Formats: sequence, structure tokens, C-alpha cells
Amino acid sequence: MTRKFPENFLWGAATSAPQSEGAQYEDGKTASTWDVWFEKEPERFYNEVGPKDTSLTYEKYAKDAKLMSEMNLNSFRTSISWNRLLPDGKTVNEKAVLYYRDYFLKLKEQGVEPIVNLFHFDMPWWLMEKGGWESRESIEHFAYYANTAFEQFGDIVQHWMTFNEPIVHVQCGYLGNDHWPQVNNFKQAVQVAYHTMLAHAAAVKVFKEKQRKGRIGIILNLSPVYARSDKEEDQEARGNSELLHIKSFLDPAVLGKYPEELVTMLKDNDLLPAAESGDSELLAAGKVDYLGVNYYQPLRVQAVNKEKVHHPAKSPSDFSRAYDWPEKRMNLYRGWEIYPEGIYDIAIMLKDEYENIPWYISENGMGVSDEERFMDEEGIVQDDYRIEFIRDHLDQTLKAIDEGANCFGYHLWTFVDCWSWLNAYKNRYGYYRYDLETGKRIPKKSSFWMSEIIQRNELDR
Ligand code: BG6
Repeated sequence: MTRKFPENFLWGAATSAPQSEGAQYEDGKTASTWDVWFEKEPERFYNEVGPKDTSLTYEKYAKDAKLMSEMNLNSFRTSISWNRLLPDGKTVNEKAVLYYRDYFLKLKEQGVEPIVNLFHFDMPWWLMEKGGWESRESIEHFAYYANTAFEQFGDIVQHWMTFNEPIVHVQCGYLGNDHWPQVNNFKQAVQVAYHTMLAHAAAVKVFKEKQRKGRIGIILNLSPVYARSDKEEDQEARGNSELLHIKSFLDPAVLGKYPEELVTMLKDNDLLPAAESGDSELLAAGKVDYLGVNYYQPLRVQAVNKEKVHHPAKSPSDFSRAYDWPEKRMNLYRGWEIYPEGIYDIAIMLKDEYENIPWYISENGMGVSDEERFMDEEGIVQDDYRIEFIRDHLDQTLKAIDEGANCFGYHLWTFVDCWSWLNAYKNRYGYYRYDLETGKRIPKKSSFWMSEIIQRNELDR
């Protein structure tokens, strides 16, 4: 059976400035937390490959734009590096302006619509030294940065995003140690999440007040939450996890306010963040025009052991426990479950509970190690596993669209293999292989397969 995608479906790929640009301290760019962290603890990074060794888009963007067009992509998402555009948070770096303007224009010239995100885990070091998102002043700094980006690039860029996966810098930086500052404190984590959403709202407000052309959204990693069973305790754990992992960001972004149950949960556990008058109005002004949804894997949970949990809670695991579903299909390289049906469930949730807001799949993908094992004699990685992965997710997407989901695109993570934070180049995700020695981009089998899907705008099942 062959099924069509809607007309003008966005086909593309995504990356971020800190994972792709390189040119670490060139042309006026200052340090982000990643640059400084690598200098402090290089051993935390896979093979000690750090943020200087990314995939060189700073010099290769024009060629990449051409390759995208040759693959029939019609859109591409990347981010701006805050500390390249505003090295000290105040002064515009003209070289950065030239670079980004030319980058976005080159994409457009190739028929590839740029979707530009403002924050992808890369906190400027000067701001981290003042407390990063923990500090209230981060909101104003972010709004200033957002406004600068709109002013400098608003004539070219029509599709803006404020944050990529804002829950990740909270979870990894304040409830774990995979992001700087490696703090483990629930209350601080809640404060960081709160300031992040206020900063998001402040950027949306500036955008709307100045009546910029185009639209503004946010990218959320919406992992659907599944309970171990229908038992009341497991369902309660599911509800808790959904509040903390999904609604805490999705509700303010789409509905302009936090859910009452979340506020009660935080209050009961002495976790409410410090707030100021006017915050509710600001959040209400932060409603987005559209959403990006990153989907890699679902969350599976089960009831907590009520005798063992802390009250007040010390971590999210006091509200739900991870559940290891014995039947799961795994991407063993990344350690993530593969569950394409999750995309359908998210789509239906957005349709039924979130005003059927327009959204697209802003990231989906499969990171695989040692892909050179799968190279044919011409050096083309035969990534049939990736093709199967994409096909299964597209199939579920189409099923949801048939039932009225407002999904308008699919972006793979990523176009050219890029640097993956602490994992560096351990797992590769791209349609194109990145040769670490030469910087060359080499197409993988999936790029040819996808190019045809895009050209036909349909999927065979
Ligand atoms: C997404 C992030 O969550 O996952 C990307 O937005 C990241 O920045 C991607 O690279 C893949 O995850 P990882 O950890 O394998 O790089």
C-alpha cells in the first residue's frame, strides 16, 4: 500500500551550533559551558574529543546547503550560538552576523527553509558564572539575545524556536551529571526549569510585540509515558511522571500556564520555585505558534515503594520508578528503546489535549556505533537499520495524520554526523557520514532512500 504525505510536508534534518560549527574561539566567539567543561575534565568526553572538534559547518555550510538540496530536503534546523552572536552578552559580534546571515541565505538559495533555534544546551560561560538559569537575571539576558537575533536575521528567517528540549539541561545539569554544572538538587532543578520557561516566554513576548514576520515555537522532547499495568499505583506513577516530564513544559508553552496538579505536587513537597508578581502574565504571553517534537524513546514507569520514598521528595524517582519492559526492542548502541508507536500516541495527545496545535517531528533518529563496519566497497554505509527505523516512525506519523493529527514535517537527527556532547562521535546519526580525518561528507544509503521518499512524498508499506 502507498500512502501520501500532506502537500508541502517539511522534509529535513536538524543539528545545533555547538555540535556542528567548530571554530571554537574564532572570530570573536567566547566560551560556553561545554568549552570550559572540556578544558576542566577532558576525560569525561568519549575518546577525549571535545567541542572544538565538531563537524566544521562554520566553513562548510554552503556546500552542506547544496547537498541538502540535492537530497531534496526542503528545510533544516540549526541553532545560533549565543556566545558567538553576543560574546559578552551585550555587544553584537559583526563577524557572527555575517556568518549566520550567509548561512541562512545559502540555505534559502538552495530551497532549504531554515528553522532557527536560540538555545541548544549551550549556556555562555559568562552567564553560568552568574548562576546560569538558576539566576533570575538569565531571563532578561535571554530576551535581549532573542531580540538581537530577531533584529539581525528576521528578514531572512521565518521559523524561530526558543529552546531545544529545555528539560534536558534541567535533568542532566541539576538532577544528574551529564551537563555542567553537575548539581543534584531537586529544588534547584525546579527553579532552573521555571526560569527557563520564563525566558522562553520573554523571547516570545519580544517577538510578538515587535510584530516580526513568521512564527515562533519551542522544541520539546515528548516521551510518552507508559505504566507497567493498569493498577492504580502504576497509573498514579504514570500521571506523576507525565506531570514532571511532559506537562511541566508543554502546558506553559501551549496553554500559557502550569497545570494545577503540578503546582500542588510541588507545593506539597516544598519544591515551589521563587516567583515574582507578573510571572503568570509573562507565561501567558509565551504561548507558541507551533511546536517541534523530538522523539527517540518512550518512558516506562511503575509505582514507587511508598515506604521508601522521601517526603518532601528528593528526586523525581520519589514520584515514579523506571520500569524495564521485558518485550522492548532496543537500540543497544545508544541504550534507547525503539518504539515507533510512541509517535502516534504523542500525535493523538496533541490533537485531543493541546488544541491540535501545528507541530512537526523536529528530531528522530538512530545513533549507531562503528558504522564503518557497514561500508560497501565504495565507502557507502549500508544503514538499512536506519531506513527501517525511519520507515516505522513515518508509518506511525501517517497513521496519526490520517486521524487528524496536525503534523507538518519530519526532521531526522541529523544531516551530517555531528558531535554528541559527552559521547562525541561514538554514535553516528546522519544521512551523511562525517569523516573525522578529512572532514568529508559521504552519503549513506539512507540519504538515497530518503531522497526518493521526499520526491514522491509518499511511503510504501
Ligand atoms: C537530542 C538532542 O536529544 O538527542 C541532540 O537534541 C542530541 O543534541 C540527540 O545529539 C542525540 O543524543 P546523543 O546524546 O546520542 O547525542
